[in-house]
Amino acid sequence: MTNPSAEIRVLFVCLGNICRSPTAEAIMRQRLQAAGLADRVRVDSAGTGPWHVGDPPDRRARDAAAGRGYDMSALRGRQVAPADLAAFDYLIAMDEGNRADLCALAGGRGELLERIALLGDFSPIHAGQPVGDPYYGGPNGFERVLDMIETCVEGLIADIRARLDTA
Ligand code: 4NP
Repeated sequence: MTNPSAEIRVLFVCLGNICRSPTAEAIMRQRLQAAGLADRVRVDSAGTGPWHVGDPPDRRARDAAAGRGYDMSALRGRQVAPADLAAFDYLIAMDEGNRADLCALAGGRGELLERIALLGDFSPIHAGQPVGDPYYGGPNGFERVLDMIETCVEGLIADIRARLDTA
């Protein structure tokens, strides 16, 4: 979290916070820089599970990301906290399990539930699809994660731009 005064706050959420959501964080940071929006949007990531708090991203995720020019070396795992629901404008789940866990944390509060989204829904070609968990699979899984996140982040940035324009 580099810019606490940013107008829009985005939290990417997966299970472990060592593969998918830190990958989304790194791609989003790079795309926001390229779009001239880095000082308007704060980006973070977290996992619903506790196992990798304080850990760097998975070596396979870091290597795959580095192959496309994304630097994940400064990122460390953290677990989603109930206070995150109110602290972020977008809580973006990688799959339906992550989304269900976030909705449970929202505790039925509608103003918090409406902040929760599935990353795939920001792209017409991936609507309703999960970013598949690559943790127990081979290297192709990490490339698929990058492909899908690169596509979906474009739609997310368009959504954020529209929100900034009407603010
Ligand atoms: P992620 O992948 O949710 O994309 O970070 C996983 C990482 C670790 C575990 C599961 C998924 N784990 O069970 O430790």
